[in-house]
Amino acid sequence: MNRESRTDVSGELRAISQAQPNIALIKYWGKRDVALNLPVVGSISITLESLWTRTDVRFVPGQKGDRVSLNGRSDEAETKRITKCLDLLRARAGVDYGADVASRNNFPTAAGLASSASGFAALVHAGARALNLELSLEEQSVLARRCSGSAARSIFGGYVEWAHGKLANGTDSVARPLLDANAWPLRVAVAITSTAAKQVGSTEGMRRTAETSPYQSAWIDTQEADLSVARDAIRARDFDALASISEYSCLKMHALALAAQPGLLYWNGATVECMHRVRALRQQGVPVFFTVDAGPQLKAVCAPSAIEQVKAALRDVPGVLEVLDTGLGEGARAIAADLVEA
Ligand code: PMV
Repeated sequence: MNRESRTDVSGELRAISQAQPNIALIKYWGKRDVALNLPVVGSISITLESLWTRTDVRFVPGQKGDRVSLNGRSDEAETKRITKCLDLLRARAGVDYGADVASRNNFPTAAGLASSASGFAALVHAGARALNLELSLEEQSVLARRCSGSAARSIFGGYVEWAHGKLANGTDSVARPLLDANAWPLRVAVAITSTAAKQVGSTEGMRRTAETSPYQSAWIDTQEADLSVARDAIRARDFDALASISEYSCLKMHALALAAQPGLLYWNGATVECMHRVRALRQQGVPVFFTVDAGPQLKAVCAPSAIEQVKAALRDVPGVLEVLDTGLGEGARAIAADLVEA
């Protein structure tokens, strides 16, 4: 933890942090413990750069309850989730103060862009600093995981692996960095094909899949091999190998979820058309591959030299509303107070 970077010059229990969403290349789908958010499989992700959540946390001695503003609005269900997460930090610090939390995203919330990953990583990072908890990044990753599974990965930047772990208490289900963002600076174009909130959230989707999909055990049995191929591809900066294993993992996760009862269909027509465009580009020799999470947005990962061509191709697909563009970025970190308002 960087104590110098705390913003509480006046001694108040306040800190401000930024974290970015991450996108899994080898997917997480399925929980071995729902209460602790422990996954049945490990996963590998990339942390993004220019999409962010910035969160200001201030604990107020004597205050009862938490006051939460997300993009300037308050929402009862979100406040409950945030209170549960802050409770973990309060328990560690041995305090019961309520908190004022103001959080802002610069990208659409709840549309398959992992806003909960960046949101809870920023919340845990800021909250731990505000309470002067001396937590290592791995400990922060464990706490972030309990608040939202994939948030465990957004504590770190670049290429990150989150282990499923074996312990019942989950202390070994932790994310760790594999490679820095600048060691292999790939780019990501995000094709937004809908801004509606998804109909089936990931927790419910994972539960339904585990209970009804006939492919659940095959999914678990084949994951270690995929992780190993992806780890090797990342270490060797082997784009073609990473492209092939990432598309495989994405389509395998969706095949698993599609076979649930009732089937989980997260794509719309534009999502599928974007997949075809990405594959057509790759066939022409453009270094690009796709991945899609539990929502209709398509993420195209490419070499920096290909980004303009990839963006133009995706923009051309009927039904694509907007194409965002980002590099790979750092993990959760302290930021200056004025940035949260910027
Ligand atoms: O962390 P959650 O509950 O939002 O689940 C994330 C699930 C996927 O995005 C589909 C895959 C992943 O590994 O991020």
